[in-house]
This record gives sequence, C-alpha cells and structure tokens, in this order.
Amino acid sequence: MTPTELDSLALLTLSVVDQVCGPIVAARNAGTLDIDTKSSGTDMVTEMDRWSEDTIIAAISRARPDDGFVGEEGGHQTGSSGVMWIIDPIDGTTNYLYDVPGFSVSIAAEVDGQVMVGVVADPVRDEVFSAIRGQGAHRNGRPVRCSDKPDLATALIGTGFGYDASRRVEQASVLVDVIGHVRDVRRMGGAALDLCAVACGRLDGFYERGLAVWDVAAGGLIASEAGALVTDLDGVESWSDMVVCAGPALHPELVGLLRAAHR
Ligand code: IPD
Ligand code: CA
Repeated sequence: MTPTELDSLALLTLSVVDQVCGPIVAARNAGTLDIDTKSSGTDMVTEMDRWSEDTIIAAISRARPDDGFVGEEGGHQTGSSGVMWIIDPIDGTTNYLYDVPGFSVSIAAEVDGQVMVGVVADPVRDEVFSAIRGQGAHRNGRPVRCSDKPDLATALIGTGFGYDASRRVEQASVLVDVIGHVRDVRRMGGAALDLCAVACGRLDGFYERGLAVWDVAAGGLIASEAGALVTDLDGVESWSDMVVCAGPALHPELVGLLRAAHR
C-alpha cells in the first residue's frame, strides 16, 4: 500500500472516531444506558458499545466496501481487499459505565496481516492518539515519544485485570511480585489508552495478560511508533495475549521481572 493510501486509511479512521465520540459521551451523561453482561457478571456491554461498533463498521464499509472487520461486539466480516479493521468500539467499558475517565474508541487497520494504522480516541481528555507504521506516533497531531527511563525502581508501571475472577487472582499474585520493584503501579482501566500512556510518557511501562487483539492493535502500533517495544513475555514482537510494553531501556528489565513473577 502506498503512503498516500495509508494516509487515506488514517484520515478515514479519524473521521469515524470523530462521529462516534460525541454520542458516546452524550449517552453516558444522559445516564440511561441499557446494560448487558458477556463473559462474566462483571464483563459489561452497553447499548453504546454496540451502537459505536455498528456505526464504525457502517461508515468504513460505505467508504471501503471490500474491507474486512473484526470487532469486540461481534462484528465480523471477511473482506477481499487485504485490509482488515480491528475495532474496540469502547475500550474500558467499566470506566465508561462508572463515569471514570480512561475509556476510548480504538480502531486499527491491518494491511495484509500487519497493523499499519492505529487510532485511539479519548473523548474525556479530548485527545486522539494516532500512528501510521513508519511515520511516528501523534497526539492531537503532535509527535509523542515514550520515556527513556532505564531503571525499574523509579518506573511507573500500568497494568490491568481480566473479567474472570480466577484470572484476576493470578494477576494479583504477579502484581505482588512486581510492586516492590517499581516506583508504583496504576490500573487505569482501558488497555488501549494504557498503551498510549506509554507512548507519551504518562507511564514508563505497561503489561497485561489476557488482552484481546482489539485491545492492543491500535495502541500497540501507537506505542511502538513512539519508540516503545511491545512484545510477549519472551520479549518477542509477535501477537500474544500477554503484552509487555516499555521504552527500549526499560523493556528488558520489565520482561525479566515479569518472567520471574510468572514462574
Ligand atoms: C478491557 C480494558 C481493561 C483491561 C481488560 C479489557 P473492555 O477492555 O481494556 O483495561 O484490563 O483486560 O478486557 O472490555 O473494557 O473493552
Ligand atoms: Ca470494549
């Protein structure tokens, strides 16, 4: 795909997130959301998660009818163009429901199996993070870089917990082994924005096990285009449900700490 075609995918993505962010916030402020649960009693989905996904897919399909889609709320379509859109229509739904900042709309475009464009929009802070592979990462159009902190002891690390109670207990026991080796830990509640927080230096590192591809696709590209490494627990840059993200100086130490904690 040419740079001009990638630019047009990014522009389309930006215009689509712009269409959904306002109504998502307005519906939250109106306080009358229909809520269902999914994988567990705490894994919630609102009418706005579904509306956002439907709206995003409809808007992209109108512009690019041959593309494929995979969305958290079930949107699935195999395309023929080589472009696959990976959508989390609201990442951080628990925050959204509780009116806690830290939820986002996350859209990535994969071209022939590689994520090439990523956009994560935070409607509360009015920030849009974006990246095109090879062209750096931006927040509201301005370049961002990850921190170059080399030492774990003064690093602020983000993480998250899954919806399954036994998975959360395992994650808490890993956290016990991590927290004494770092400055402190944050659980902000939306993995896509956590990755963007690493991209712009609000966190020095982030890790979480159990993430889905729609949680990571856009934010992972944004973090890596901001200079961070985004890998699995072996330090390999391949898709895995365990994501370890930090600047290059810190990343080996964080991987080492997490490997020891997972033993
Ligand atoms: C969740 C958020 C959360 C993370 C969970 C995800 P959702 O996504 O990203 O921060 O800890 O693992 O499932 O369900 O709010 O889209
Ligand atoms: Ca979601």
